[in-house]
Amino acid sequence: MTGDHYFTAEPTTAARPREVEFSAGGRDYTLASASGVFSANRLDPGTAVLLRKADLPAHDTTGPLLDIGCGFGPITCVLATSAPAATVWAVDVNERARELTAANAARVGAADRVRVVAPDDLPADVTFAQIWSNPPIHIGKGELHGLLHRWLPRLTPDGVAWLVVARHLGGDSLHRWLVEQGWQVERHASQKGYRVLRVTR
Ligand SMILES: C[S@@+](CC[C@H](N)C(=O)[O-])C[C@H]1O[C@@H](n2cnc3c(N)ncnc32)[C@H](O)[C@@H]1O
Repeated sequence: MTGDHYFTAEPTTAARPREVEFSAGGRDYTLASASGVFSANRLDPGTAVLLRKADLPAHDTTGPLLDIGCGFGPITCVLATSAPAATVWAVDVNERARELTAANAARVGAADRVRVVAPDDLPADVTFAQIWSNPPIHIGKGELHGLLHRWLPRLTPDGVAWLVVARHLGGDSLHRWLVEQGWQVERHASQKGYRVLRVTR
């Protein structure tokens, strides 16, 4: 056992490859996963609620789209297959997560449109039609707020962000905080204890 968290930059635990199967938007996915990344053995239930309840991008969406904290890439892969002309940026601090997301983008035939980068490597001039995230709550409230302060202003004027947060992990207080910061926030759906928030300017 090591002290690795899923948001460790360079996991030291053995990767122990595995596959995660799930369905979203009427498609089936089998993605590569490994120890040392978030929810390595199954699609996270919060991510499942997000992908079921939020409005997946339309087929003709060109993006760019952003997945904050991509993990092994389930949201990124669903966005890339739902919008086959869109560029999808996937960021994560965890190097293994980035490697898996890049491999999974290739699995779904979207390697040429998915750009997987560490947060500091995303060019400053890219803005996003949609931002998606099952955000890393466990980094702490201050860090989480910093993360959202960093990325939400990258929405295009008519862009939309979709966030999923467990109610017992502060989904409702995050909703209030976002409103205090001047964002329009709608509780789009609530299922299995998860809030799906739709955030616009
Ligand atoms: C709740 S997990 C979601 C993972 C994946 N999107 C999913 O649905 O399975 C949050 C992810 O955020 C990443 N993360 C933590 N801090 C981050 C930061 N400052 N910037 C970007 N990603 C971060 C973690 O490594 C983790 O992969």
